[in-house]
Amino acid sequence: MKFIVSPSIISADFTNIKEEIKKVEYFQDSFLHLDIMDGNFVPNITFGPFIGEQLRNITNIPFDTHLMINHPEKFIERFAVFSDYITFHIEETTFPFRLVNTVKGLNKKCGVSLNPSTPIEHVFDLLPYVDLLLIMSVEPGFSGQKFIKETLLKIEKAYEFRKKNGLTFLISVDGGINEETIQLVLEKGVDVLVMGNFFFKNDFNFVKSVINKYRK
Ligand code: DX5
Ligand code: ZN
Repeated sequence: MKFIVSPSIISADFTNIKEEIKKVEYFQDSFLHLDIMDGNFVPNITFGPFIGEQLRNITNIPFDTHLMINHPEKFIERFAVFSDYITFHIEETTFPFRLVNTVKGLNKKCGVSLNPSTPIEHVFDLLPYVDLLLIMSVEPGFSGQKFIKETLLKIEKAYEFRKKNGLTFLISVDGGINEETIQLVLEKGVDVLVMGNFFFKNDFNFVKSVINKYRK
């Protein structure tokens, strides 16, 4: 099965960041997932653009930036400097079409994300305009949470919608992916697996064996 791994940097050891990035580079065609949290949209704070700018200097991996912030439109330009994909939350904007245009106008790929309780139908009209759909399988805010299995139906509906309408956006899943849940989401047709704790907090040989088992 072909899929992209997008390890989330917030689970990495920042005192050893170059080595951590090498683990991500080990997988061909991987992304690096940057979780941006502002302490308002979610009850946690991570980092701002300066970290992304520095990381950009040490790797060529595409950056998959996930904005969990209020007023994403105010910060798009700052994150566009180093990002390849910029994903905003549908719950946080009244003008999603405008936001997609802004991101595309900066020559960046645009993603839209849904919290676990937001119905997929909510973004159907927007999906023809985006490059990536990020389905949250935990409540956003923290790494290391348990996968919400009801999300599987949402992935299935997204997959069917894409097929029926001849669209090409990537389907990404974020939260609680590990050696047990990986198979469940792959069976539903996801393209991108965001992985925080599983990727960075386990022995790397174990991580490789799990991912390589499915990635053929
Ligand atoms: C949650 C973040 C996720 C998270 C994933 O708000 O968007 O990217 O860090 O971490 P795990 O894989 O540990 O659930
Ligand atoms: Zn994320």
